[in-house]
Amino acid sequence: MPLNIIIGAQWGDEGKGRITDLLAAQADIVARYSGGDNAGHTVTIGEDVFKLHLIPSGIIHDTVACIIGNGVVVNPQVMLHEMDALAARGVNVSPACLQLSRQAHLITPAHIALDKAKEMQRGAEAIGTTLRGIGPAYTDKANRTGIRAELLADPEELADAIHAHVAAHNQVLTKIYGVEPLDAAVVAAAFAAYAQRLAPHLVDSGVVIDAALRDGRSVLAEGAQGTLLDIDHGTYPFVTSSAPTAGGALTGLGVGPKVVGDIVGVAKAFTTRVGSGPFPTELEGEMALRLRGTGANPWDEYGTTTGRPRRVGWLDLVILRHARRVNSLTALALTKLDILSDIPELKVCVGYELDGARLDHFPSDLPTLARCHPIYDTLPGWEGDIMDVREFTQLPANAQAYVNFISDQLGVPISIISVGPGREQTVLR
Ligand code: IMP
Repeated sequence: MPLNIIIGAQWGDEGKGRITDLLAAQADIVARYSGGDNAGHTVTIGEDVFKLHLIPSGIIHDTVACIIGNGVVVNPQVMLHEMDALAARGVNVSPACLQLSRQAHLITPAHIALDKAKEMQRGAEAIGTTLRGIGPAYTDKANRTGIRAELLADPEELADAIHAHVAAHNQVLTKIYGVEPLDAAVVAAAFAAYAQRLAPHLVDSGVVIDAALRDGRSVLAEGAQGTLLDIDHGTYPFVTSSAPTAGGALTGLGVGPKVVGDIVGVAKAFTTRVGSGPFPTELEGEMALRLRGTGANPWDEYGTTTGRPRRVGWLDLVILRHARRVNSLTALALTKLDILSDIPELKVCVGYELDGARLDHFPSDLPTLARCHPIYDTLPGWEGDIMDVREFTQLPANAQAYVNFISDQLGVPISIISVGPGREQTVLR
């Protein structure tokens, strides 16, 4: 059986959690491969809303084993907090069900303090990070000074590593950023306690995944963030510090490309982003408020991790073409189609206008992107609630036309459409 990959096709928050939950029903293993607790994946089952930041969304299925892969950066405190919250709701988070790669890197309070200090120093130029220590943890990884999860099994080495790590980062925190140093003994004591609980979950995740694939079991790679937040293929520097794209799934789990089956891009029926940086189809005013929602519902456009209101705009096919290319998407899952009901006319960006010429691909540099103006096609909207629709042919004709227009333009089939937050509010094609 293959490794199927779920990728965010926009700037994150596309609804990957619910698509993972849907596809996890046919998977034996669900594995996270990049990012950390900067992600916010929401799964709604009946009245129950599960908000997960770090633990793979597959954990809610009791037949699925979940792996946090080597490409993930893990705040052990957050992992334990999520495990306890899930266990309190009857979800099995035993080592048989939830495994952590020995090669994953740990996020420490020093990383979080640095993230905050750096963002403060950037002032108006701030990236708008989630302040979870993600960038500094990946910096340490690339700098070969990180702390890998494998040390959770070795208390003495872990204590030494934490003391050296905090001492080194305190230099930067105090001398460069002028903030208070951390107490290494306090951090080391906390990590010793985390280690006791997390050590039984450690595995060589690449070996586990390889064995599963060879045994004919199916593995679902759960992406976090999105294509435009990729450190290479996103809107640099307003990106995260990892590779949420298909290539990142391979290195983040320790498998080669030949095991890959489907690569499902998840895209919202419109566009959102949190944080700073250019956004060609961004909307303001009435329509922005309409798409964002008030914040009263868990599915309104407010960050799951930060609570920040998301910026919203029309669907941008230049972005989705970029996602198709970077990830070799084999299918698309279109989420939140229901939010577009009762809007008389829907705009879809089909290309950019740059200095009087048409541009069909997503530019790689921000100054060029900032000069791009969207070229829109206008499609007629549809009236009425579609949240109870389960068959494609029962969608209003204009909703079907909207979906078909997107797949025709991209040359990628749209195989899943979500029409509401619930697990069952899904149209499969
Ligand atoms: P960081 O990943 O916390 O360093 O944040 C870097 C950028 O990625 C910021 O613009 C964040 O808002 C954005 N970001 C990180 N994770 C997510 C996510 O899960 N959804 C949406 N945006 C995210």
